[in-house]
Amino acid sequence: MRFALIAFAVGLSLMSFGCRGNKSDVPPVHPNLNMDFQQRYEAQSKNEWFADQAAMRPAVEGTVARGFLRADASLHQGRGADGRLIDALPAGIELNDELLTRGEDRYAIYCTPCHANSGYGDGVVARRGLLVAPPSYQEPRLRAMPLGYLYDVITNGKGTMKPYAAQLNVEDRWAVAAWVRVLQASHRADIAEIPAAHRGELK
Ligand code: HEC
Repeated sequence: MRFALIAFAVGLSLMSFGCRGNKSDVPPVHPNLNMDFQQRYEAQSKNEWFADQAAMRPAVEGTVARGFLRADASLHQGRGADGRLIDALPAGIELNDELLTRGEDRYAIYCTPCHANSGYGDGVVARRGLLVAPPSYQEPRLRAMPLGYLYDVITNGKGTMKPYAAQLNVEDRWAVAAWVRVLQASHRADIAEIPAAHRGELK
């Protein structure tokens, strides 16, 4: 009797390891179902209960995903309350050395390939052949554009230029827009605008 019990116990424990790694089409024994199996609709499947018969329901109108509320039009769209592009930095973004250093840094990474460090639009990629050449930032039309326009082009792209909102967050886009303004200003500064102490440094 004892021998039979031991043999049974050994056999049982061997059985519990025996099938490991073997392939089987039979679903495993699942004593506790938890929520592993339940009725549900697959994505894109049909549900006759709704008038449009789509099981996937659209988000309620006006729904904003968490972290995606862009209520501040001047910050996020570069537009004032009247819907027009603003020609200043939005409240909360301060014009200082830090902003411009950041703008110069991001510009060098994301814009110089086409627009070049100078902003003339003759970057390496542009020189090797873009169907549409990037314009120089010195074009009178672009000089006259409000700062919000530069932000808008970076955010949404323009013509054949793709948007850079995925690479640059809102603050960085304003920093780059400010840097483009610096490049534009660098060509039409009056000697009187340069602090007297630095005038001698100019050739
Ligand atoms: C892959 C090349 C490429 C890169 C990188 C690129 N641009 Fe452009 N950009 C273009 C081209 C091409 C145009 C002209 C598009 C057109 O008119 O169809 C353009 C146009 C522009 C304009 C002028 C829009 C107008 O009204 O004519 C601005 C401003 C500008 N880019 C800023 C930027 C800034 C800032 C960055 C970096 C965040 C950047 N671009 C990165 C290719 C590029």
